[in-house]
Amino acid sequence: MKSYTVTPTTKVLRGIIEVAGDKSISHRALIFGALATGSTTIQNMLEGEDVLCTAEILKNLGVTVVKIKNSWKVVSPGLEGFQPFKGVHYCGNSGTTLRLMTGFFSGLPFSSTLTGDASLNKRPMGRVIEPLTSLGAKITEDKNEKGRFITVTGGHLHKGNFSLKIPSAQLKTALLLAGLTGNVDIKVKEPLKSRDHSERMLKAFGAKIKVKGLEVLLASNSKLKAQKLIVPGDISSAAFFIVAALINRQEKTTLTLENIGINPTRVGILEVLKKMGAKIQLKNKRLVCGEPVADLVVKPSKLKGVTVSQKLIPSLIDEIPIISVAASVAKGVTKIRGAEELRVKETDRIKALINELPKFGVKVKEYPDGLDIIGLGDSQPTGSPEVVSYGDHRIAMSMAVLASISQNPSKIQNTECVATSFPNFRDLMEKWDFRFGKFNVNFCMEELVESDLI
Ligand code: S3P
Repeated sequence: MKSYTVTPTTKVLRGIIEVAGDKSISHRALIFGALATGSTTIQNMLEGEDVLCTAEILKNLGVTVVKIKNSWKVVSPGLEGFQPFKGVHYCGNSGTTLRLMTGFFSGLPFSSTLTGDASLNKRPMGRVIEPLTSLGAKITEDKNEKGRFITVTGGHLHKGNFSLKIPSAQLKTALLLAGLTGNVDIKVKEPLKSRDHSERMLKAFGAKIKVKGLEVLLASNSKLKAQKLIVPGDISSAAFFIVAALINRQEKTTLTLENIGINPTRVGILEVLKKMGAKIQLKNKRLVCGEPVADLVVKPSKLKGVTVSQKLIPSLIDEIPIISVAASVAKGVTKIRGAEELRVKETDRIKALINELPKFGVKVKEYPDGLDIIGLGDSQPTGSPEVVSYGDHRIAMSMAVLASISQNPSKIQNTECVATSFPNFRDLMEKWDFRFGKFNVNFCMEELVESDLI
């Protein structure tokens, strides 16, 4: 077990950093590259565990995925050339890998089995299995003591017209992928717009795709052509540093985050933080491979509590833990509602925040679809030696950020999970000035198991 010991800093922090490539875009670049004719290159691809699981599964099918110098190369064997894999495809902790590849396999005329780690094996799959089955795929879900195994037998699909009940880019993309591998028309309508990286990237790859408001139409016979892609920095990773700079108590602190994706379907966090009073400037706005990108300049700010409305939730769904950290030090109450999807992320993130924020002296109130956070205002968070991550990368990093301005050093336990989305998080935090120590908590885990038995 790994953990972080975070020693609060009282120093002025100045820096310019780049965070790793966007996770959602990296998965899609690999998968669409695997469906295209020619050789796709991907620069700044996130090399986190989640994305590497997607790469490994594509390799299992006979796709060439190699890193050459600083960029990744993907060469497809062609739709007819994918090889059935005798083993089980392992998705690790990655919901995106599992859901997207379930869609991908739905159009391929052989059986493929997928599994994941203990957390992923608990996450709902009915949302993708049901519509993919209606297209003609045969999908079974088997659970045994070794985990959950999803077996997809695809091919012979018919066209589909879906009106989704939840806004989910994973679900939308799983359906589009079934359309691509199964060569059928797909129409998907969402209740609210979820991230649209698939639509943008498929257009770039030459797919016959149209977007009309909340509706996406993909025509059969979409032939994809290889692309040279550059992945922008992940706003979901940048979010930890944005909030760390905002809540830093030294007036002269300033942080520039270069090359960050600012796709309108992802920037709900910027909207909310600005409403809270955050000083964030967007500079050098540009378009890179069809995705809007900018440099962000962040300065410490006096924040106030706000209400985060339901319609914003899809555009900031992964940022709610770190928004809750900003809310913890704001003046007044922040109300977050319409976020019941948080209950089925890598952990139940509402529960995790309800349990962990009070360890810093923050008062919270739980709702089925969100939480209230009563900000500390001028008081300082206390810090705690007993913060847990629940194996969830975004909880671990959010708590590390709150710990960075607390009165006392904190220990955040079980931080291996950070490697799923942000392998160099700690290095960047250190470089930027926070002091992290390593702590081996193996024996604590043993104690925990023992006390559980008593
Ligand atoms: C993702 C979509 C979101 C997000 C996840 C990545 C994607 O999930 O939470 O981290 O890459 O499509 P949902 O589709 O379940 O909202």
